[in-house]
Amino acid sequence: MTSLDKSLLDEFESIVGASHALHEDELVASYSTDWTGRFKGSTPLVLRPGTTEEVAQILRVASDANVALVPQGGNTGLVGGSVPLRGEVVLSLLRLNVCEPVDVLAQQVSLGAGVTLAQAQNHVSPFNLAIGVDLAARDSCTIGGMIATNAGGINVVRYGPMRDQLLGVEAVTADGSSISHLEGLEKDNTGYHLPGLFAGSEGSLAVITKARLRLHPQLDERCSAMLAFKSVGDAVSATAQLRRSVPDLHAVEVIFREAMDLVSDYISTSIPVRSDGSAWLIVEAASSSDPTDQLAQAIGDLGDLVLDVAVGHDSTSRAGLWQFREKITEAIATRGTPHKLDVTLPASELAEFVSRIPEIISEVDRRATAVMFGHLGDGNVHVNVLGDDGLEPDNEVESAVLGYVAQLGGSISAEHGIGTAKKEFLHLNRSGQEIAIFRAIKSSFDPKGILSPNTLIPAEEQ
Ligand code: FAD
Ligand code: MLT
Ligand code: ZN
Repeated sequence: MTSLDKSLLDEFESIVGASHALHEDELVASYSTDWTGRFKGSTPLVLRPGTTEEVAQILRVASDANVALVPQGGNTGLVGGSVPLRGEVVLSLLRLNVCEPVDVLAQQVSLGAGVTLAQAQNHVSPFNLAIGVDLAARDSCTIGGMIATNAGGINVVRYGPMRDQLLGVEAVTADGSSISHLEGLEKDNTGYHLPGLFAGSEGSLAVITKARLRLHPQLDERCSAMLAFKSVGDAVSATAQLRRSVPDLHAVEVIFREAMDLVSDYISTSIPVRSDGSAWLIVEAASSSDPTDQLAQAIGDLGDLVLDVAVGHDSTSRAGLWQFREKITEAIATRGTPHKLDVTLPASELAEFVSRIPEIISEVDRRATAVMFGHLGDGNVHVNVLGDDGLEPDNEVESAVLGYVAQLGGSISAEHGIGTAKKEFLHLNRSGQEIAIFRAIKSSFDPKGILSPNTLIPAEEQ
């Protein structure tokens, strides 16, 4: 399925117009490599449809000709699912970027799949409303990509992941048929919930073209704090306590030692609280009235568990604290191409997991290092493994770390998805019967297997 003959190229081009059918090497390059630089593919064609009908026409032609496609939004995905690893056509949804009027009465909005998160946030904010998911890639990641990966981010502790924001989708299946449920009914028990199925489907079932999202009140009164802890266990205990005692808890993020040193160096700013800790939390409370007192009281109640605290009340001081969390991914990227592992652990296993990881990794690759941080409120740790001197680490680190996660009862993918990077490890969390059901679902939406063939579903054993 890699090369396309001239008549097929012309047929695709006639759907979107010559300026939106890209084939020159320099134009398709950025669509073929993922954000981390670890997954590099190639494509004969990038198509940039401007309407749902154009998406449907493209899929009809692709299905008839048995041409594989990879849907792509902002290309910020971290598991290699957004790039054409076997010469697939790239279907870029970035031109589906219409934000429909905000439905203030229902507190909902319909957004094109190519709308970026930042664009969506700016669109709803004048109505004192907010999108429930927020993450550092907000300027590039798209609503379609966030649904397809069931993105998490920093506010899952309050609003849940992308799946929980979804009231309906419009999508096109592999044969070019459109389905649309954008009425936004809060209660609608009419059988299978397709939006929920598409959330986390990573482009393997259908191309999402539009979504109806639930909105939340915009909470402008905020207080953030950075807390230093002697041990990871103390940070875990404090997180549990804060979740119980802060009604307006909006985020509980964690930065472990190596990540803190790395980001502090990258942003050329010294750590605002005690720098001899093992773990730091960034905690935020948000409300319509000043939440400083409830957060201060809860932090005070942590007593000796906390080594040191810095508080940010106004937007400048809060941003000063948050940059230590938001810049970590960029900071890691300056040190090489990491293998990004994104796992959830039961709270009772978190401290042991974090302390054992360096040893587990060095048993496989003596020179590799682990840079860890994450969303502690959700039990989600990002383990970034860097090889020696900017090189990639030994591939075996994946099976060592993910095997350990499964042994502890955790998930091998908390929020980034499976993509191509994790699909050979899916069996660690999903039984053979479940994977067989995945395959059956995939084939009922995409019988020819033309949508994102490299992602999520492992190859069948011969
Ligand atoms: P892409 O990368 O383009 O695609 C991702 C997957 O979705 C691919 O499998 C693709 O085929 C599929 N897809 C894309 N659009 C569609 C569509 N319209 N229809 C069907 N399938 C589609 N992720 C988190 O969960 N939490 C975080 O906190 C977080 N922080 C990040 C911070 C940084 C700095 C970076 C670079 C990434 C971060 N990510 C995070 C990962 C990434 O931003 C998310 O996975 C995001 O949801 C991807 O959106 P995208 O538009 O870039 O999708
Ligand atoms: C984050 O939480 O910042 C992201 O998931 C990105 C990453 O893991 O690097
Ligand atoms: Zn994350």
